[in-house]
Amino acid sequence: MIQITVSKGPVPELIAEGYVLFCAADQELTPEQRAGLVTFNGAAEQVLKRLDFSGAPETAVDLQGVQGGRPVSLILVGIGSLSAPVYHRIENMRRACGKAIRAAEKLKITQLVFKLPHPELIGFTPFDYAKELAVAIEMAAYQFNQFITDTKRHVAKDYAITFVAPSAIHEALEFGIETGTRIGCAVNQARHWCDLPALYLTPTALAERAEAIAHAHDSLACTIFGKNEIVEMGMGGLIAVSQGSAQEPRFIVMEYHCGQQDAQTVGLVGKGVTFDSGGLSIKPASRMDEMKDDMAGAAAVIATMQALAYLRPHVNVVACAPVTENLPSGTAIKPGDIVYHYNGKTSEIKNTDAEGRLILADALSYIAAKYKLDALIDIATLTGACSHALGPFYAAVLGKNEPLIDRLIEAGKMSGDRLWPLPFSDDYRPAIRSEVADVCNIGRESYRAGAITAGFFLEHFASGMPWAHLDIAGTSFEVPDRPYYRGGSTGFGVRLFVEFLMDWKPL
Ligand code: BES
Ligand code: MN
Ligand code: ZN
Repeated sequence: MIQITVSKGPVPELIAEGYVLFCAADQELTPEQRAGLVTFNGAAEQVLKRLDFSGAPETAVDLQGVQGGRPVSLILVGIGSLSAPVYHRIENMRRACGKAIRAAEKLKITQLVFKLPHPELIGFTPFDYAKELAVAIEMAAYQFNQFITDTKRHVAKDYAITFVAPSAIHEALEFGIETGTRIGCAVNQARHWCDLPALYLTPTALAERAEAIAHAHDSLACTIFGKNEIVEMGMGGLIAVSQGSAQEPRFIVMEYHCGQQDAQTVGLVGKGVTFDSGGLSIKPASRMDEMKDDMAGAAAVIATMQALAYLRPHVNVVACAPVTENLPSGTAIKPGDIVYHYNGKTSEIKNTDAEGRLILADALSYIAAKYKLDALIDIATLTGACSHALGPFYAAVLGKNEPLIDRLIEAGKMSGDRLWPLPFSDDYRPAIRSEVADVCNIGRESYRAGAITAGFFLEHFASGMPWAHLDIAGTSFEVPDRPYYRGGSTGFGVRLFVEFLMDWKPL
């Protein structure tokens, strides 16, 4: 458990194992910071000069000293320029929190005092500031260690952290910390499901987790559809993808009810392929292991529902996740097969590795038919093409509803789950024409642009809703060099959706 409390200081009076000073690149140390350094260790400033610490983002140094007869550490973390754009400043603060946790891990200390710059200097309200920092601290401390039996290799998961700030903003900070802790825990929940091997996180296992979350909250409801119901409902894409595996598919529906009469409703759909071998159109062996993460979209929407139950935004939310494995076998779908989706449209399966869109087709048409939605968003580790186009730091957003896309991009900047739009011009639409069915599951070679043509496939099933598609293939797993990640999965989408939904207003 990470416990974050607030104190007015002064820093030297707070007992701790480590003191973390957040230092800007373009600001001299404040008199208080200077005093802190001197109290800590008379020579600290000279040492700093020698260490050449400039406050650049993603840098940190630590010094060891003695205070009141106890060994203490001083950790300086850089936060970059205070005149950088506001979203850079908060992102630098998140990374600095990550650096601070990594330093504490190295020093094996868990009792920390954070001397933070005032939220005004970052350009955030005290609430949002504390929220973002608490999320980053939770995320930084996450480690997937369930299967590492040598506990010496486990990092600390219990911290006692004190934020030092003026009394006037304590209440707002405390509320922000509580909110951020909930969000961070939901992000880490999604990461844990993504990191779990497919051996453990089967479709039925994920459905059980969703059900357990819903049971714990009055504002949540959950329905799980099994194989027979999926067949009966006519979800031919989901059945087709699942039929090569001995694991049964599941279709998860979760509802968050905000309790207000006139509230609008937002739909979320997440791709839940618990393992994607490619099926008969099998993938190469190298990095196939990463395809245990092909349910990151489903994890993001389910974990978001958990966060919403605590944070209670004024909007109803429905989340759907079609969940299955994609494996080759004697019963698997074959290239050339044609299936009927939930809305009656047919698709030609030219490549069994383009399976995500087949299951999303059923889920999108289901949610659009069953609910009166004011916006619909899907999230999926959908294409290698997207991962190549944008790399690990931005997910793609596609669609034609500009207000919805603008809101999502804004929520991305605010939360740190950043989005970049890809063109969604009808010029690309003919790529997925099929000679033998309504639509083909891969784009024609000459059109290339695989992330965009996949989006056009999905558009057939979004039923004219205000809809946006998020491709998180590049951002959900193995994002390098981000101090608050640690290899493995990122939980991309949870921070974004919570931010997007917390201040929902009609489009
Ligand atoms: N799950 C993959 C996409 C993916 C690739 C995610 C790499 C993360 C990292 C998806 O099901 C897939 O295989 N897509 C194919 C589509 C192609 C056959 C049209 C791809 O991108 O190669
Ligand atoms: Mn695939
Ligand atoms: Zn896939």
